[in-house]
Amino acid sequence: MKLPSLLLLTALFRLARSQSFIDAISAFPQLSSFASFLNNNTTYAATLLNVTRSQTILVPSNSAFTEYRNVTGHSIESLGPDTVQRILQYHTLNATLKSGDLAGGAAAQRGVVVGTQLVDKRYNDRGKWGNSNIKSPGQVVYISPASAGKTRRSLELATRQGSATTTVGTGAGSSTTMNIIDGVWDGGIFQIVDHFLTLPTNCTDTMDDIGLKYLTTALNVVNETDEWNSFQGVTCLAPTTDIAQGTDASSLTTVLSSHTIRGPQYTTVMQDGQTFLSDANTTITVKIEKDGTVWFNDAKVVRGNVVANNGVIHVLDKHLDLDLQANE
Ligand SMILES: *[C@@H]1O[C@H](CO)[C@@H](O)[C@H](O)[C@H]1NC(C)=O
Ligand SMILES: *[C@@H]1O[C@H](CO)[C@@H](O)[C@H](O)[C@H]1NC(C)=O
Ligand SMILES: *[C@@H]1O[C@H](CO)[C@@H](O)[C@H](O)[C@H]1NC(C)=O
Ligand SMILES: *[C@@H]1O[C@H](CO)[C@@H](O)[C@H](O)[C@H]1NC(C)=O
Ligand SMILES: *[C@@H]1O[C@H](CO)[C@@H](O)[C@H](O)[C@H]1NC(C)=O
Ligand SMILES: *[C@@H]1O[C@H](CO)[C@@H](O)[C@H](O)[C@H]1NC(C)=O
Ligand SMILES: *[C@@H]1O[C@H](CO)[C@@H](O)[C@H](O)[C@H]1NC(C)=O
Ligand SMILES: *[C@@H]1O[C@H](CO)[C@@H](O)[C@H](O)[C@H]1NC(C)=O
Repeated sequence: MKLPSLLLLTALFRLARSQSFIDAISAFPQLSSFASFLNNNTTYAATLLNVTRSQTILVPSNSAFTEYRNVTGHSIESLGPDTVQRILQYHTLNATLKSGDLAGGAAAQRGVVVGTQLVDKRYNDRGKWGNSNIKSPGQVVYISPASAGKTRRSLELATRQGSATTTVGTGAGSSTTMNIIDGVWDGGIFQIVDHFLTLPTNCTDTMDDIGLKYLTTALNVVNETDEWNSFQGVTCLAPTTDIAQGTDASSLTTVLSSHTIRGPQYTTVMQDGQTFLSDANTTITVKIEKDGTVWFNDAKVVRGNVVANNGVIHVLDKHLDLDLQANE
């Protein structure tokens, strides 16, 4: 008799929690599509809200639904239950993330990287979590500062008016605006996003997506494309200058591996003066300026923390000079 009643209690608890979430988002007219989406199919509500710790759900707005349909010509549901569930898991941040966590300090200058519930290897093949400087079993999203130099102001505005926005970097180099409203439900917090998050793709596809075609070409030249995509947990430093220029094929391999660090290393938690060993056994030294700008040796990060299924890509303004990173 005890077991059924326990099961019943758990089911009731789940129901109450999911009702709490649906009630909470129903207070926002711009979230009515998502409420309808969950009401239409309780399986999705069960997936989304099946968590024990306090979470932050990034709720897609009505325009996220319309835009998705506009751009792809089909509804999000038509992706099929497996993919939809993965997307919902990616929308669930495994932490309580409020406006206060994004304001001030390193978070305001360099943004934050947060783990999600997305653990499927296809989208999260980052190796042992101990290899990364962000300990998360699930794939991550990168939340960049609202806008350089103005972060604090717009976040203060958020606290006052509940309308500040910031950017969430997700898979395939895509991003979405996040409206920080600090919505509350029984299982945590919710914030609003204007796009569905894009599931992460492999390293070279992601490089192509963010316009680094010459780098994927260079990897093809030395036949390392599959190797890079099969690294479980990697940091790719990706210069915007053509890495292959003036380099013969034999040294291209060394140049490429001197831009590779094992384990996904996110700039948001790096320390000034910290060093990493590249795959070519050269030393890469991190410099962090007062305004939050990050450098690797003499190259500046122009776009950090682009999420790939097997790691992270930091785009640099130039390639690392091998002579400058000789072994200590
Ligand atoms: C929910 O189902 C109704 C009726 O089938 C449909 O009109 C509506 O578009 C669905 N909502 C979403 C968000 O899919
Ligand atoms: C909820 O999560 C547990 C453990 O993570 C899992 O075993 C169960 O199948 C999940 N239930 C649903 C409805 O997704
Ligand atoms: C979707 O397309 C319609 C018609 O082209 C347009 O009026 C609307 O603004 C679009 N909505 C979004 C969110 O892109
Ligand atoms: C609800 O989602 C499940 C998979 O999670 C799917 O099998 C089922 O067909 C869906 N039901 C409706 C009414 O869309
Ligand atoms: C969520 O965070 C908790 C506590 O840090 C951790 O134990 C758990 O494995 C995490 N889950 C995922 C899917 O990352
Ligand atoms: C390219 O590398 C793969 C292993 O990643 C290997 O199997 C293949 O033979 C190589 N091709 C050439 C042309 O060297
Ligand atoms: C991933 O990488 C391989 C090359 O290693 C490529 O052929 C493949 O199409 C890529 N994309 C996906 C989604 O697997
Ligand atoms: C780097 O050093 C390690 C350990 O000393 C060694 O096993 C590895 O072969 C070296 N790699 C290169 C590219 O020299």
